[in-house]
Amino acid sequence: MIRIEGGRRLRGTVRAAGSKNAALPAVMAGLLTSEPVVLENVPHLLDIECALELARALGKEVTWRNSAVVLSGGEALAPEAPEELVGRMRASFLALGPVLARQGEARMPLPGGCALGPRPVDLHLSGLRRLGAEFEVRGGIVWARASRLRGATVYLDFPSVGATEQLLLAGALADGTTTIVNPAREPEVVDLGALLTRMGAPVSWHEDRVTIEGQRELGGAEHRIIPDRIEAGTYLLAGAITRGEVAVAGSRPDHLDALLAKLAEAGVEVESADGVARVRANRRPHGVHVQTLPYPGFPTDLQPPIVAFLTTAQGRSSARETVFPARFSYVGALVRMGAQLQVSGDTVLADGIEVLRGASVDAPDIRAGAALVLAALAAEETTEIRGEEHLSRGYEGLVEKLRALGAEVCAAP
Ligand code: EPZ
Repeated sequence: MIRIEGGRRLRGTVRAAGSKNAALPAVMAGLLTSEPVVLENVPHLLDIECALELARALGKEVTWRNSAVVLSGGEALAPEAPEELVGRMRASFLALGPVLARQGEARMPLPGGCALGPRPVDLHLSGLRRLGAEFEVRGGIVWARASRLRGATVYLDFPSVGATEQLLLAGALADGTTTIVNPAREPEVVDLGALLTRMGAPVSWHEDRVTIEGQRELGGAEHRIIPDRIEAGTYLLAGAITRGEVAVAGSRPDHLDALLAKLAEAGVEVESADGVARVRANRRPHGVHVQTLPYPGFPTDLQPPIVAFLTTAQGRSSARETVFPARFSYVGALVRMGAQLQVSGDTVLADGIEVLRGASVDAPDIRAGAALVLAALAAEETTEIRGEEHLSRGYEGLVEKLRALGAEVCAAP
């Protein structure tokens, strides 16, 4: 459980961790070769441990060197992923493309539903089919075969982050060029492209498509994972909701344009320069309207945190969720803390109140948990948040970083 005494203005600087959602597909890229792949700036998080456990189960050697992960070995990969690991984390499904490309066959449990509503993998499968894979789904397991993947043009109905990553990973070892039309362009996907290019499969981005030139074999590489824009955004919002001043160093402010624009619109002072993003908020902000969209639109992963911030803005705000329409699991807990929120279809409406009050609440997933932490930091009195394991999936050293900013927070048994 995390216990927070709210009402302290946060002040100071924290350093951004490496991006969880860039590190996860990078670990899967390590499956494409038996040469060493060295990933620097990997955050120490439960989700990363889960991905590394999967890589080990498939035959890789994995070692940590401070914040670098070295993946090596695995001349042949096991074709079957343990169900328990894929069930625990959806990103594990990204092992399908690499294992199939290396071994000609793969057995991968379907990732189940999750707190964000049903999250199908139809785009992953139809894309891989275009590359020549054949599938059968039996008892919740995808049985995949492909003697050799062939490059092809794949159009995505939606610019899915996972499907784009899956197709880049598979395309890296396919015969010829794979073109993805309407790809996801999130910085984490672009970072995977940079790693694959370093491993020997050039990735090029164009206006409406991305291409990858497949190779017979890939080499090893050293790659530094980009800073986590969602973690950085969460600390900036912590500064804003507590009417404090917070800077995130070692970040990529250019990856945070949508958030910084909305904060500025709400009346928060924002600044960005040389890898540092900063907010200063000494007045009550006014309400704004937010809509989540694929990058460079407003990130769905910051929708729960920004709604927490907007609960105490002046007047009416709204957040429309177009990426995961059911991502409002945190609303009930914020209402218990006094927020005036109402969900109507894919939109949550907020009528700003002066101050939230502490309560005992549950964190149902990572970003919902982040929203509750933000609310607790600004609330009167004490908030107890259960389900902190969700927070450790996505926020490295959360308690220490918040303390460094002056928050009164502790991890209680
Ligand atoms: C990635 O999930 C991130 N996860 C998510 O971060 C993030 O919220 C999401 O992208 C959107 O930015 C990782 O990178 C590990 P999608 P992903 O495929 O790849 C639908 C966090 O909190 N869809 O872009 O699963 C899907 O249901 C997490 O760190 C299909 O219909 O996201 C959703 O509505 C949670 N069919 C939408 O597309 C498919 O085959 C976006 O999903 C694939 C997706």
